[in-house]
Amino acid sequence: MWSTRLAFILAASGSAVGLGNIWRFPYTAGEYGGGAFVLVYILCVVLIGVPIMMAEIMLGRRGRRSPINTMRALASAEGRAPAWQLLGWMGIVAGFLILSFYSVIAGWTMGYIFRAASGLFTEIDATGAGEMFSGLIGDAERLLAWHTIFMVMVVLVVARGVAGGLEKAVRILMPALFVLLVVMVGYGMQAGDFDTAVAYLFEPDFAEFQGKAGEAILSAMGQAFFSLSLGMGAIMIYGSYLKRDSSIAQNTMIIAGLDTLVALLAGLAIFPIVFAHGLAPDSGPGLIFQTLPIAFGDMPGGSFFGALFFVLLLFAAWTSAISLLEPLVAWLVENLSFSRVRASVLGGLTVWLLGIACLLSLNAWSEVKIFGKGFLDLFDFLTANILLPLGGVLIAIFAGWMLSRASSSDELQMDDGPAYRLWRLLIRYVAPIAVGIVLLNAVGVLGWIGLG
Ligand code: TRP
Repeated sequence: MWSTRLAFILAASGSAVGLGNIWRFPYTAGEYGGGAFVLVYILCVVLIGVPIMMAEIMLGRRGRRSPINTMRALASAEGRAPAWQLLGWMGIVAGFLILSFYSVIAGWTMGYIFRAASGLFTEIDATGAGEMFSGLIGDAERLLAWHTIFMVMVVLVVARGVAGGLEKAVRILMPALFVLLVVMVGYGMQAGDFDTAVAYLFEPDFAEFQGKAGEAILSAMGQAFFSLSLGMGAIMIYGSYLKRDSSIAQNTMIIAGLDTLVALLAGLAIFPIVFAHGLAPDSGPGLIFQTLPIAFGDMPGGSFFGALFFVLLLFAAWTSAISLLEPLVAWLVENLSFSRVRASVLGGLTVWLLGIACLLSLNAWSEVKIFGKGFLDLFDFLTANILLPLGGVLIAIFAGWMLSRASSSDELQMDDGPAYRLWRLLIRYVAPIAVGIVLLNAVGVLGWIGLG
């Protein structure tokens, strides 16, 4: 159990805030032209993400076990099919795939701590920053070393149990990351092209989707699931450690609000630099690694602040990564009576192997394509845009249709007032229908039956 309500909020925000906000959000927004993507993203957070996060926490707290066993127990308590536990299995697969590439990107972050600290950012220009980045991702051995170190860090924490150290780290380091992001936004106002960046991010123009609206909306929705850690049981398992007397709705608003704020701040820190230096907003996953060094290289004390920023980003990634491994470890401990240590090492090793395929797809295996994507891109697409939304729909259907009204209003501690009714409307209709349409469109079913 979390010692306090604050501990739960810290841990869940630690899971939500990570590379998804600072690395993935800006470059995905940049790929789809900015404002319109950001608007769809925010709508997804509010209308789909918030109700599903409440549902996940609620199910977790009612089940009080790992996601697979929680789903089985709740299905049986409500007289529903045991097959609902498959939802838990899907989450474990998604967590594995996400962590395998997440760890590689966290490795880039580690590499950049040392590049910053050794003064390599000083007066670097866009070309230099681009070369620094391609130098790193072209070096498979270096990537492997960082990926290995990061996975060891994750396994060490998960093996010791979630609470404790994690709480303390999040309490200090998250606010520090937040402050540093605000400083970077300040730098962008002063030295970057801030007005263009604000217009780019907050003046939606749907022409930006350029005939790729389906893909853009899918990506915005996927980004919402990814950033809020939804759809695979991570928030569910954190909910299972939450005390009964804590308001799920309030906690959710705080977590989702913080997460969105951090993503928007990251956008406001990065795009002023992008525009001031004539970089392309759609340069892909390297975007922050090619822009932030320019800013740090230009500011007084930049080597120190740059290193500090990447250290804090590494911690944010660490607290997120832990929640990706936790559902599997909890299940191995509950069902196969593994010790936490053995379960974490086994899970970590599997992820480590998958991660090698991801990091090789950046260099030696760059020619290997499945559905036109290398492993890293494939795992990213498959999880964020397909598995997490699919998990989300199933969670919404279970919470809205399978769980009795009495159970959900009891667990959410909401009486039958407007707030509960709004939640029920969103979870029963809005979330499943919206996510369903976007997913069906993505796999081509709508076009096939002549609707898309
Ligand atoms: N939300 C985290 C981020 O934005 C990543 C993450 C952690 C995650 N746990 C998750 C994503 C569970 C999906 C599901 O960096």
